[in-house]
Amino acid sequence: MIQSRKIVIIGAGHVGSHCGYSLLTQGDVNEIVYIDIDRDKAEAQAGDIADAGCFMPHPISVRVGDYKDCRDADIVVLAAGVPRKEGQTRLDTMGDSIKVMKEIVDPLKGSGFEGILICISNPADIIAYYMMKHTGWPKNRVLSTGTSLDTARLKRVLKEAIGVDPRSIQCFSMGEHGDSSMIPFSHITIGGKPLRELMLENPQTYGTLDLDCILERTRRIGMDIVIGKGSTEFGIGTVLADMVKAILHNEHRIMPVSTLLEGEYGQEDICVGVPAIISKKGVEKIMELNLNQSEKQLFEQSCDIIRKHMALAQQ
Ligand code: 2OP
Repeated sequence: MIQSRKIVIIGAGHVGSHCGYSLLTQGDVNEIVYIDIDRDKAEAQAGDIADAGCFMPHPISVRVGDYKDCRDADIVVLAAGVPRKEGQTRLDTMGDSIKVMKEIVDPLKGSGFEGILICISNPADIIAYYMMKHTGWPKNRVLSTGTSLDTARLKRVLKEAIGVDPRSIQCFSMGEHGDSSMIPFSHITIGGKPLRELMLENPQTYGTLDLDCILERTRRIGMDIVIGKGSTEFGIGTVLADMVKAILHNEHRIMPVSTLLEGEYGQEDICVGVPAIISKKGVEKIMELNLNQSEKQLFEQSCDIIRKHMALAQQ
């Protein structure tokens, strides 16, 4: 299928607008189309982003449209929903989010869209599962940014702790994109050297690293930003643009995404954050890390929390 490099973004709020701006500045797309029940807001966001488009290396159309625009789109981004408030977990927004998804799933399914659906709306894992089940699309075509943003935050926390550029840190946050996310520390490498080896060999420098503290700080960043400015925007927008790049360029890059497990990590019939190969097909293959016992336990606990809320979402 010839790529139109057309991206439809459903939801023109804080997250959707920053997804559009990140896509624009990345320069990989030809067209960005917004769908939002508040058409005036969507027009304003599209116009504001289009103003920035005048400075880009190639012309990019940014406009408001409708579900008919999904037909020839390469990717649809689902960013609709109600931002969480201070003190709310992402799971707390599930009831409101599912109500919004019920208005979206049928027109999206009926649009003739054949590309990749990237879900951002929270609770991300449950929304990805809901949309996959209610559209009936195959698991490779429906994913969520999941713990990609958590992984970026982990790299930032590690960089602050050990002073190494995030691009030289290989790590993943896994599990729920939420308060039960977990970090398989045994699989973190710094320039190819396992973190634990680094800590043992350099106790004076890295011996004081508190891994529990690193996990808690990574988990808390999202809410700290919500408390400070009401919503996160730039981080998630850039994560999305990076994922779109991996798909449009058929990169076969391994990224932490929320995707359907069918036996991997001992889990069935659940969408949860795991490392996977991302290509033009969407989710090409799940990478199974050899988690140690305590990591397996944390991952399973996170899956149990998602599963408990999934059951509530199906009611
Ligand atoms: C975040 O953690 C939007 O849930 C997303 O910022």
